[in-house]
Amino acid sequence: MLASGMPVFLLLLWATTTPQGAGVQVLPPVNFTLTVSALAQVLLHWEPNPAQEQNNSTIRYDVEILSPVQEEYDTKSTRSVRTAALHNGFSARVRTLLLQGHLQMSSDWVEGNLPPLPGAADTSVTNVSCVTHVTTPGNVSLCCTWLPGQGAPEDTKYFLFYRYEAHTEECPTHTKDKRNRNTECRFANTQIKAGEIDNLIVIHINGSSQRAAIKPFQQLFNQNAIEKANIPRNISISLEQNDLLAMWEKPISPFHEECFEYEFYLINLKSGNKQILKISSNSFQLRVDGSSSYSIRLRANHNHICRARGFWSDWSETFYVGQNKLENSIAWILTLLCVSMSCTLLLVAVLCKIGSGCNIVKAKTPQMCSEEIQLHFGFVPVTAKS
Ligand SMILES: *[C@@H]1O[C@H](CO)[C@@H](O)[C@H](O)[C@H]1NC(C)=O
Ligand SMILES: *[C@@H]1O[C@H](CO)[C@@H](O)[C@H](O)[C@H]1NC(C)=O
Ligand SMILES: *[C@@H]1O[C@H](CO)[C@@H](O)[C@H](O)[C@H]1NC(C)=O
Ligand SMILES: *[C@@H]1O[C@H](CO)[C@@H](O)[C@H](O)[C@H]1NC(C)=O
Ligand SMILES: *[C@@H]1O[C@H](CO)[C@@H](O)[C@H](O)[C@H]1NC(C)=O
Ligand SMILES: *[C@@H]1O[C@H](CO)[C@@H](O)[C@H](O)[C@H]1NC(C)=O
Ligand SMILES: *[C@@H]1O[C@H](CO)[C@@H](O)[C@H](O)[C@H]1NC(C)=O
Repeated sequence: MLASGMPVFLLLLWATTTPQGAGVQVLPPVNFTLTVSALAQVLLHWEPNPAQEQNNSTIRYDVEILSPVQEEYDTKSTRSVRTAALHNGFSARVRTLLLQGHLQMSSDWVEGNLPPLPGAADTSVTNVSCVTHVTTPGNVSLCCTWLPGQGAPEDTKYFLFYRYEAHTEECPTHTKDKRNRNTECRFANTQIKAGEIDNLIVIHINGSSQRAAIKPFQQLFNQNAIEKANIPRNISISLEQNDLLAMWEKPISPFHEECFEYEFYLINLKSGNKQILKISSNSFQLRVDGSSSYSIRLRANHNHICRARGFWSDWSETFYVGQNKLENSIAWILTLLCVSMSCTLLLVAVLCKIGSGCNIVKAKTPQMCSEEIQLHFGFVPVTAKS
């Protein structure tokens, strides 16, 4: 019974919502304009059609963004601001909606376009990746890397800008690749607010060359999705009988303890067994073989409870607990040897490659501005003076 009644009901609904039922003409808005109001930001603006009869009805507007990312919404206002990557242009359309009681009628669409940003094909940067980092006392650094476009001439110079809310800033220190083209940028301090959730960071990279027009490139990043967490603090680890006890504090961050998760990397130095444990609290107890010794490292990330997950922090220093004091000291000596050797190597590498940027690091961690880069920069002024 119910099932056979349904089509009739739907048919009636259809009949009452068709524009013919009202006899009112709905006219499209006029003077629809698109204006670039900031980096990767468009202001959509239109006027009500002056010939539109209101007759006790409500007027709203249907807006449809067609590209670069499809989106639909309706609004009472005659202006609307959108954030979008604009290098391949932007197009949108708008129409009038007339609401009379339960009746809804719509006009034809009016469409507007922004052309793609000018420049030769394949001169845009590719593979842009960015990472932010909360530095004490709550400032945020930003580092981005990219690859030059396949079609970019040798003499291409790229320039990076970031926009966060109303603040736009050009990169102060670009790092160059072997062919002297900028491929990395670091802001030691930005206007990015560490405690915000889902705010966008706009990246704009344009360029110049004598031989070609370089096409700009824009990309939007969710600030939480590209944040690399800090290392957990005040880690204390002990072995009591057969219990491994560990405690630590959350990393430097405006977010609460519940917003973090940890990875615990445990190596049994006697058996060589390795274990990675995921932990969502700030302390931890594990039954182990008390006659073995262990090396332990810890790292942190944001969990999905408070916001988008970002990148894992670096690993903490290594902690050793357990019986084999001799092995421990051998391990320490070996570690010390390794560290001093890599320091020497790093120094040599720096001396050889002054001015060639983060190449050493890139080979190890492509497309990611790691802590090692800071270390690397730290050496430069010292060696430059000598
Ligand atoms: C305005 O509304 C009145 C009453 O609802 C209706 O009789 C009239 O036809 C409407 N005028 C127009 C132009 O639709
Ligand atoms: C539309 O723009 C034209 C030309 O700029 C202007 O004369 C007209 O008043 C505008 N119409 C509305 C409804 O604002
Ligand atoms: C508009 O609505 C009011 C109240 O609902 C009514 O008194 C009036 O007659 C309506 N006017 C028209 C033109 O429909
Ligand atoms: C750059 O990005 C493309 C497509 O996403 C990928 O196939 C390629 O491996 C990346 N190149 C490098 C060097 O990361
Ligand atoms: C942190 O930001 C404030 C305000 O922007 C600035 O004055 C201060 O020097 C920054 N601190 C560091 C360590 O960068
Ligand atoms: C790059 O973009 C910035 C910001 O829009 C602009 O001020 C600058 O003139 C552009 N540079 C080139 C070389 O196009
Ligand atoms: C870490 O420990 C030190 C001294 O033990 C203490 O002063 C400091 O407040 C602790 N840090 C945190 C984040 O609790």
